[in-house]
Amino acid sequence: MDEVIVLDFGGQYCHLISRRIRELGVYCEVLPSDTSAGELRNRDGLKGVILSGGAASVYDDESPQCSEGLFELELPMLGICYGHQLIAHHTGGKVKSGDAGEYGLTELTIKDSGKLLEGLKKKTRVWMNHKDIVEKLPEGYSVLASTDHSPVAAYANDKRKIYGVQFHPEVTHTEDGMKVLENFIALCGASRDWSMADFIDKSVVEAKEVIGDRKAIIGLSGGVDSSTAAVLVSKALGDRLTAVYVDTGLMRYRETEFMDETFSGKEMNFIIVDAADRFFKALEGVTDPELKRKVIGGTFIEVFEEEAEKVGAEVLIQGTIYSDRIESGVTKHSDNIKSHHNVGGLPEEMKLDVYEPLRDLYKDEVREIARQLKLPEEIITRHVFPGPGLGIRVLGEVTPEKADICRRAGYIVEEELKRAGVYEEYWMGFAVLLPVKSVGIQGDSRSYKYPVVVRVIESKDAMTANFSKVPYELLEAISTRITNEIAEVNRVVYDITNKPPATMEWE
Ligand code: XMP
Repeated sequence: MDEVIVLDFGGQYCHLISRRIRELGVYCEVLPSDTSAGELRNRDGLKGVILSGGAASVYDDESPQCSEGLFELELPMLGICYGHQLIAHHTGGKVKSGDAGEYGLTELTIKDSGKLLEGLKKKTRVWMNHKDIVEKLPEGYSVLASTDHSPVAAYANDKRKIYGVQFHPEVTHTEDGMKVLENFIALCGASRDWSMADFIDKSVVEAKEVIGDRKAIIGLSGGVDSSTAAVLVSKALGDRLTAVYVDTGLMRYRETEFMDETFSGKEMNFIIVDAADRFFKALEGVTDPELKRKVIGGTFIEVFEEEAEKVGAEVLIQGTIYSDRIESGVTKHSDNIKSHHNVGGLPEEMKLDVYEPLRDLYKDEVREIARQLKLPEEIITRHVFPGPGLGIRVLGEVTPEKADICRRAGYIVEEELKRAGVYEEYWMGFAVLLPVKSVGIQGDSRSYKYPVVVRVIESKDAMTANFSKVPYELLEAISTRITNEIAEVNRVVYDITNKPPATMEWE
C-alpha cells in the first residue's frame, strides 16, 4: 500500500494535512519531526514526505530540525510554511524574519505554475500564518508564486522533486488547496486506492503486534470513540479484550440495557458493573462541582482497577482521538491549548501500557470506521455525553432521585429533537436539574417543585458554542412533555447563553 508521511514540526494544522491526504485516497500518517532517514527508507510503500508547519523560526537554536540525511532520500518532498522554510534553510537558501507578519487570507500571484500549482488560477486566495520568509532560494530551485509579503511563496526543484509552499493548502480557506495536495500526490506517483477499510485491516495487524499475547481492558462509555476502539481491537484480540461498562447511576436513560443489547455476545468479553450505589454513597454531601468531578473520577478508577486486576489485563485501550490529543498539548511541539477531560485520567495511576488505536483520526473518520464495523447508528450519531455524566447536570448534591429526574428530562429533550429530525444538527441537547423549587399550578392546586433547564447548543470544536435558536413550537413540545411526564417538575426554562461566557455544561 502506498503512503505519504507528514513530519510534525508542531504546526496547528499538521494532522489536518494527513487527513486531507487520506481524503485523497492515499494512506498518511504523522511522525515526529526527527524521525531518522533510515527509518523512513525502511517503510514499505513510502512515496513522499511532507514537512509540516510549525511556530518556531528555522534559524533558532531550539527550533525543531529534521534528521540528517533526510534530503538525500530519493523521495518527493513538500514543505508547508515552516517546512517550506526548513527545506530552503537546509539546502543552501536563506530564511529571514519578514518586516511584518502575513496572517489570514492573502492573494497569491502565480508566475510559473509548474507541476505543483498546475490547474490553479493565476491569482488565487491562500491562507497564510507566518512572519519569516524565504529570502533566497538554493541552487536548482525556482520561484513558482509570490505575495506582497513573500517573494518566494511557492518553489520547485523539479529535478529532485522537492517543493515548498508558504501558505497552508490543507485548510479550507485556501481556495485551491486540495488541488495543490492532489498535484503533489501525483508527483509522488502514489496510487489513490486507500480506504477506511484498509485502516481497519492495518489496525488489526498493529494491535496484534503491540499487544502480543497479553490481555487488554477498555472502559466502554457508549460514546462512538470508545465503542469503535473496543470493536476494532476485539478483532485482533477476541476475548482477550475485556470491555467494562460501569453503570455509575449517572448514565443516560436506559443506557445500561442499550449497552447490554449492543455489546453482549460479541467477540470481546463484555462486563457490566452496577456501581450506582457506590457512586451515590461517595457523592453524599458533595456539592462543589470540581470535588464532584474528582469523586466521580476517583470512584471510576477504583471500580475499573478492580476489574482490570480480576481480568489480569496488562494493556489499557483508550479511544483517544486526534482532537483530544491536540487539546491536551500532547503532540511534541504544539503549545498546550486546553487540558482535556478525557485524557490522562486513567493510565498514570494504573501502571498499564496504553494503546490508542484511533490516536490520529478525526471524529468523522472515526464515525466512518464505526459504520464499517457495523456499530448501531445510535452510537455513531449520538451527542457527546460528559464523563461525569448526570453528576454535573444535577446541580448541588446528587441523589438517585434527582439523577433520575434529570435523566428522564434529558431523554425527552433528545427524543423530541430526534422526532423533529434536527438531532444531528446540534452538538448537544440536554436537561439540567436546578437545586431550587418554584411555585406552579397544576390541576386545581398549587405546586412547589423543581425547574428543569433545557440547553441545546451548536458548536464546531467544543471551545466555543452558541445556544441554538430552536423553534418555539419544539421548545413548547419539550416543555409540555417534561411537565406532564415528570411529576417532580413544574417549570422548564431555556438556556440562552453562549460559550463564552457560559460553558456548555452547568458545572
Ligand atoms: P464545557 O461545559 O466545558 O463542555 O463547555 C465542553 C464539552 O466537553 C464535555 N465535558 C466533559 N466531558 N468530562 C468529559 O468527558 C468532563 O468532565 C466534561 N465536562 C464537560 C461537555 O459535555 C461538552 O461536550
